[in-house]
Amino acid sequence: MVEGIEDPALENERTPRPFDGQLNSARVYDYLLGGKDNLEIDRGMAHEMLSRAPELKTLVWFARGFLRKSIELAADAGVRQFIDLGSGIPISPNVHEVAREIEPSARVVYVDYDPVVVAHCEALLTKPSGVAAMLGDIRRPQDIIDQLSDRALIDFDEPVAISLIGVLHYVMDHEHPAEVVAAFRDRLAPGSYLAISHGSSDSDPEILRVLTGTDNSSAQVDFRSAAQIEKFLAGFELLEPGVVPVQEWLRPDLPETRMVMLGAIGRKP
Ligand SMILES: C[S@@+](CC[C@H](N)C(=O)[O-])C[C@H]1O[C@@H](n2cnc3c(N)ncnc32)[C@H](O)[C@@H]1O
Repeated sequence: MVEGIEDPALENERTPRPFDGQLNSARVYDYLLGGKDNLEIDRGMAHEMLSRAPELKTLVWFARGFLRKSIELAADAGVRQFIDLGSGIPISPNVHEVAREIEPSARVVYVDYDPVVVAHCEALLTKPSGVAAMLGDIRRPQDIIDQLSDRALIDFDEPVAISLIGVLHYVMDHEHPAEVVAAFRDRLAPGSYLAISHGSSDSDPEILRVLTGTDNSSAQVDFRSAAQIEKFLAGFELLEPGVVPVQEWLRPDLPETRMVMLGAIGRKP
């Protein structure tokens, strides 16, 4: 059962509501990945971005590759619980598929603040036991942590891998992204992992200009520098190669892109 978001302060114009017809980050991303769950308004923005940077369709798959790599890294290190924050419309391989290739008993919770995304996740992902989907807004991290604990979905006394893939840049500075990450960090057991991918302010200025067309919608972004993103990982050991374009996490020979998506992985000591 998908419940509503109750905090009026977060019920702003950027919070998606079912069938509101507004530009929507999950659906723009779905279109870029080749999915079918998107509207004309989302495809229009995607095409505007693609006209400036056709390689965006490749970049989104590099970003998915980074997600996969981060899950494998944590699972190989013995982590058995995974929380995918801002999980988006399902696209295979999803987190539980990757984690369960390594550990078939891995528990996975998909969290998103878009009720339509959560409905997709519930319909498509949560058949196997130990896989759940939950409505939650990362701008209210304590609510998510409380729900995960109260519903016994996650045991925070054991290591957990948290994914914040392509989501923190939707949290504006005045919504305190560093505090969001810190709230999860403080609850995590030693040996836990955090993976972040985040749009870079070093992207081509023309791309950054196109992105201003998303303002006042759920797709509004605040791209940040590598130094700002590294600060989000305070309290974690930053793994090599550090805060770098996601393709550098995958292979040395992948091409650069005009929109730069930075990836970083930390381990809680
Ligand atoms: C660009 S998609 C990325 C999806 C997925 N993480 C991936 O990398 O393929 C961003 C997702 O983050 C979600 N999102 C944005 N802001 C959020 C917030 N404050 N709380 C929870 N989810 C959020 C959107 O609804 C959307 O599904």
